[in-house]
Amino acid sequence: MELDELRELLPEYTIESLLGEGAMGSVYKAVWQPHQKTVALKVLHENASEKTVQRFLREIRAGVNLVHPNIVRIYDGGADDLCYCTMQYIRGKTLGQLLESQSASLPFLVNVLRKIAEALHYAHGQGFIHRDVKPENILLDTSGRAFLADFGCAKDPENDPRVTELGAVVGTPDYMAPEQALGRQALLGPATDIFALGGILYEILTGRPPFARASMIKVLKAIVKEPPTPPTQVKPDTPQELEKICLCALRKRIPDRYPSASEMARDLKHWLEGDPLPVASAALIELVEAAKETPQTAAPPSPSSRAPATESQEVRMARAARASLRKISEEIPIPKTDSPGFFHRVRAWFKRLFAS
Ligand SMILES: Nc1ncnc2c1ncn2[C@@H]1O[C@H](COP(=O)(O)OP(=O)(O)OP(=O)(O)O)[C@@H](O)[C@H]1O
Ligand SMILES: [Mg+2]
Repeated sequence: MELDELRELLPEYTIESLLGEGAMGSVYKAVWQPHQKTVALKVLHENASEKTVQRFLREIRAGVNLVHPNIVRIYDGGADDLCYCTMQYIRGKTLGQLLESQSASLPFLVNVLRKIAEALHYAHGQGFIHRDVKPENILLDTSGRAFLADFGCAKDPENDPRVTELGAVVGTPDYMAPEQALGRQALLGPATDIFALGGILYEILTGRPPFARASMIKVLKAIVKEPPTPPTQVKPDTPQELEKICLCALRKRIPDRYPSASEMARDLKHWLEGDPLPVASAALIELVEAAKETPQTAAPPSPSSRAPATESQEVRMARAARASLRKISEEIPIPKTDSPGFFHRVRAWFKRLFAS
């Protein structure tokens, strides 16, 4: 859309410049005149379907209530003559740009991811799943503070162009979880965002996403079927604890990933502070490492067949707990919505089993 036409349709806004373009639309820097506030104005492509517009509006209305120091605020939105939303303007760069410049230190980047994990945990508690966590949706202001963008503006889960239009260049599936790549919408939940955090951590550690392949379809296949090459094999000086955290988040099976984004954030904080991982995390991660990567449909090997001879008591306890957990989680009916209730129940069971 021409700038003049846009200015005519949105007289409350003085549009200053184009900030960038994505799969859904264009983002402009603008001044919201009645509030004398500089904002980022996202305008959807004119060809957006009625369903996409309705969903966009619905999510903007809900997203207005997400208030967190590391989440871009959504202020307003509408869909009269054109479909738009206004957001907090972040002067700075995206994490994608920062990673490309290779100018940031590892602790800085890990701290950014930790903050984003905390923000996601807050949003999950409010019933939101982001579904499109990626370096381009993480904005860093000039003081280095991290913000997660596009809550409420994420792509339509039932019509995700990354899956349905494989030939088109519309965003990246690089950080997509297996359940997204398979189109299993009923399984999307906090673990879907946790997988994406694992993908970003992988890129921070190695300089490339975990399933970098020559084509989009190959990326999707690798996400579902292939284990990621351990970061230490790509970059031998990768800190081992970060590799463990990363691979735990990138597990194919939902119950094998971190039970919550806050637990991943906590482990990243431990690494930043030079502390060893907490016993529960170390046991979960060690257990997960011991398990051979299995495709989504394969039955997990029996606990005894996987037990290494030298495992600690904590690991044995965790292994037994996890075996029971897996059995229980298979018996719990999976909700048909995006509700995070399933994961909370699984987590509660896990805690109970651990405590006993
Ligand atoms: N709140 C904001 N403040 C400042 N700049 C922003 C803001 N939101 C987006 N941008 C800029 O606009 C660009 C385009 O954003 P947009 O969300 O449309 O696309 P994307 O996230 O890169 O891709 P996709 O459409 O696949 O989500 C971003 O890369 C960023 O540079
Ligand atoms: Mg975006």
